[in-house]
Amino acid sequence: MPALPDHGLPQDALFEKLTRFSAFDAPWRSGKTFAYMYDAGPEVDAVAKRAYTQYLSENGLDPTAFPSLMMLENELVGIAAKHLNAPEGAAGSFTSGGTESCMLSVKTARDHARAMKPHITAPEIVLPVTAHAAFHKAAHYMGLKKVLVPVNEADHRVRPEAIEAAITPNTVLIVASATNYSHGTLDPIEAIGKIAAERNILFHVDGCIGAWLLPFFKRLGAPLPAFDFTVPGVTSMSMDWHKYAYCPKGASVVLYRTKALRQFQLFACAEYTGYTLINTTILSSKSAGPLAAAWAVLNFLGDEGYMRFAKRIYEATQKIVAGIEATPGLRLLARPDTCLIAFTSDEFPVFHVIDEMKKKDWLLQAQFGAMGSTENVHLSVGQSNFEQVDEFLKDLKEAVAAARAIPRSNVVAEVKAEVAKLSPAEASPQALAHLMDVAGVSGGKLPERMADLNQILGALPPKLAEMALTQFFNDMYTAKR
Ligand SMILES: Cc1ncc(COP(=O)(O)O)c(C=O)c1O
Repeated sequence: MPALPDHGLPQDALFEKLTRFSAFDAPWRSGKTFAYMYDAGPEVDAVAKRAYTQYLSENGLDPTAFPSLMMLENELVGIAAKHLNAPEGAAGSFTSGGTESCMLSVKTARDHARAMKPHITAPEIVLPVTAHAAFHKAAHYMGLKKVLVPVNEADHRVRPEAIEAAITPNTVLIVASATNYSHGTLDPIEAIGKIAAERNILFHVDGCIGAWLLPFFKRLGAPLPAFDFTVPGVTSMSMDWHKYAYCPKGASVVLYRTKALRQFQLFACAEYTGYTLINTTILSSKSAGPLAAAWAVLNFLGDEGYMRFAKRIYEATQKIVAGIEATPGLRLLARPDTCLIAFTSDEFPVFHVIDEMKKKDWLLQAQFGAMGSTENVHLSVGQSNFEQVDEFLKDLKEAVAAARAIPRSNVVAEVKAEVAKLSPAEASPQALAHLMDVAGVSGGKLPERMADLNQILGALPPKLAEMALTQFFNDMYTAKR
């Protein structure tokens, strides 16, 4: 029974347990993981850990008590501003991750509109379907209406005319990606910036995954148009340090063209009985570990270190893209501008490739065919994958042959037929539990092979898939008592 022990355990026993618990986690140090992890190797790891633990306990709640945290943050925001060509007077904040940066950009836009456009009572944000789910979360948490914009099927970029058509008198923010996560493509930022400036609407460019890397790719010769603050209409940007800047999780930045705009992000509360509360970001008490580690990693690697890594990523991506294009049965969904690759198959259910690759310890990610996309396999290529590219392509070929030979699943066809009869309004928890059961999910446990389940989830209308996922996760996280 995992109750709190009466007496504390000895350290050896504790750490032996933690090591044992992690035995089934993704083996990301192998260079065979193509999602979730951004591994710069043991030397950078050691620098990050040292700085992280040095600042682990300091509290980011109050810069007057810990002035060094404000100094570290100001230095980091300065690096970001220079990297993204922000003008003098730009301002930003260090945040806990991409989601927080994106959510803050939406909060800022909402509060800016409240002050500057008080006639707007039902604010809307214009979102390409490739914009990250963090913006949907922001709209959900803050009660904003989303106006979703389809993207061009051929290259998965949003068309400026489609953005323009989605603008209404209630629009408080336009979002575009540099680049999007799903397909790695860069939206036409210059054209959208022009529209935003003409209409006097705030424009956020989400560079959480792409914006750190893109300037390095440009220097390596990638043909990239302007995507940052050099574009006049861009009013804010987000960029994650904990992705391709190789900092430990909990590190991102949100930047605004002016300090006046950033002010709408801040929150103060003097209507309660405790200490004066003034927060620049969502969290209040927070470890300074991620901040100190980000500062240390950036300064440890420097421009030369990041260029070295970017070159490995650039070359690995090009080789993998060419390998996929040369593999019969696979089709690239778009030519990526960064190192994010999406491929599908028109000949067999592509999710079987993920299961086949998993047998050889590769971790690839499933992306459902939602919102006009096609079900596909995603790869976030990192510098740690560089040495594994040949082995990856060889195994991929074998996985494709194996996937092709797998007979089509009756279960998938049956569930798809049942789903077609179900509407979100009549989908009871019981009906969804039954569907999940048929798909192989039972008692909060996932099946060994995920292809059928992923095909089924991908076939559900988005609202039903969201219900199924929240129901399953609510079941899966069960307190041990
Ligand atoms: C483009 C983009 N925006 C936002 C996010 C959210 O970032 P996080 O997972 O750090 O919250 C991601 C994550 O991959 C992303 O790719």
